[in-house]
Amino acid sequence: MKIAVIGAGYVGLVQAAGLAQLGHEVIAYDIHQRRIATLKKGLSPIYEPGLEECIKRGIEGKRLFFTDRLEEAVFFAPVLFLTVGTPAKSTGEADLSAVFAVAHQIALLAEEEKMLIIKSTVPVGTGDKVEKMMREISPSFPFHVVSNPEFLRQGSALHDFLLPDRIVIGLDDGGLAPLLQEIYKGIPAPILWMDRRSAEMVKYAANVFLATKISFINMMAELCESLSADVEMVSLGMGSDRRIGPHFLKAGIGFGGSCFPKDAFALMHMAREAGVPVPMVEAMMETNDRIPDRIVHRLLSLLPIKARRITLLGLTFKPGTDDLRDSPSLKVISHLAKYPYTLRAYDPLVKEGTPHPALHSVALTSTIQEAIEGTEAILLLTEWPEFKEADWIRLRRLVSHPLFIDGRNCLDEEKMKKAGFQYIRIGKKPTLFLKTEGDPRESTDGKRGVPASRK
Ligand SMILES: NC(=O)c1ccc[n+]([C@@H]2O[C@H](COP(=O)([O-])OP(=O)(O)OC[C@H]3O[C@@H](n4cnc5c(N)ncnc54)[C@H](O)[C@@H]3O)[C@@H](O)[C@H]2O)c1
Repeated sequence: MKIAVIGAGYVGLVQAAGLAQLGHEVIAYDIHQRRIATLKKGLSPIYEPGLEECIKRGIEGKRLFFTDRLEEAVFFAPVLFLTVGTPAKSTGEADLSAVFAVAHQIALLAEEEKMLIIKSTVPVGTGDKVEKMMREISPSFPFHVVSNPEFLRQGSALHDFLLPDRIVIGLDDGGLAPLLQEIYKGIPAPILWMDRRSAEMVKYAANVFLATKISFINMMAELCESLSADVEMVSLGMGSDRRIGPHFLKAGIGFGGSCFPKDAFALMHMAREAGVPVPMVEAMMETNDRIPDRIVHRLLSLLPIKARRITLLGLTFKPGTDDLRDSPSLKVISHLAKYPYTLRAYDPLVKEGTPHPALHSVALTSTIQEAIEGTEAILLLTEWPEFKEADWIRLRRLVSHPLFIDGRNCLDEEKMKKAGFQYIRIGKKPTLFLKTEGDPRESTDGKRGVPASRK
């Protein structure tokens, strides 16, 4: 089938390359001309595992094309996916200007019936408004607007496109279903059919629920630190209950990225407009917002008085992506920048010279070694495999003071302590880490979690 994808960002590129891999003939359009020029050379402007190879395969197989002319995309295909950004306005409301601008132009350009499938995350009722607008602009052609929210995770986006848990499709005209089935024919996942408004709501509900799980365990982490409990044990105990499940129950520096915060703000805005109170969502966001400040205070309280240098390991909001949008590390940097410390940072995908206003106060390095040499404190912010695999016994020799706060609870506690670090995890009182004989949290075989007395 011939398909156009409008907006070649994280979602649009994965959608375009994935659909081409399924055998469709796909054209991707973006307003950003340099991005299209890069894509035409077979290069991906963003990092996503396997994406560049998939783009190259699509181009070589003559199933994937790129254009910076919207009319070319509109004339190419009867089916268009809309994947432009919907960032938050200062009020929290989703900015739909790109969605409406593109839909408006498509309605003006179209010379035949078109199906517009909205993949961008949009507030409930947007599909109704877009369809009405398009039909008013060009009454001679039927325009059908479908909601098909995207659930990919950056860092495994292509995998998630090809093997999703489910495909949600919201339409108010059941006659469109066979065409949609045809598009996703090669994907072994159930299609959940529903009305358009419910499909739009599913995306917000899913993201806000996942963010709430993270904030919940982070709230428990703060409590555990005060009450001398261990949040990882609490998480293990809770997550083993099948009704709760283990995912998104890892305490740390909080969530970020281009979706969770933006979608929570948009949901709060929608709720305000509808006159429905959503105090849970407000509390969830407030809990998340407090974490970077709390961790910075903890770091400062543990730093030696004469300390001058602090190192941040990891900047992206999660591993496997180069995306810095709303990353908690940027909040940490802005808190730390108020103090007279020299900040150095290393991230495998954020290179020296990366233009970002929040990175001005940080010297980016190209290796872990460079970042930690002579430092007096290390704060790990992104769970990159490189940090887990590093030889911390050797690296310990490079630092001036061994304070290490693991903001993702991802390194091996015993190894870090053996290496000589004052190693701190989130959700545990640091003094509890001191190794004492008969520590009830250690088993005789050295494995944590099983009290020795129970063996
Ligand atoms: N990134 C994710 O993990 C993810 C997951 C699920 C859903 N979403 C949603 O998908 C949408 C897109 O997100 P993204 O992360 O891909 O954003 P993005 O910023 O990476 O990509 C958006 C693209 O749209 C282009 N664009 C903007 N205005 C345009 C216009 N008028 N015409 C053509 N192109 C235009 C931009 O140049 C950019 O390349 C958002 O609504 C987002 O909430 C994102």
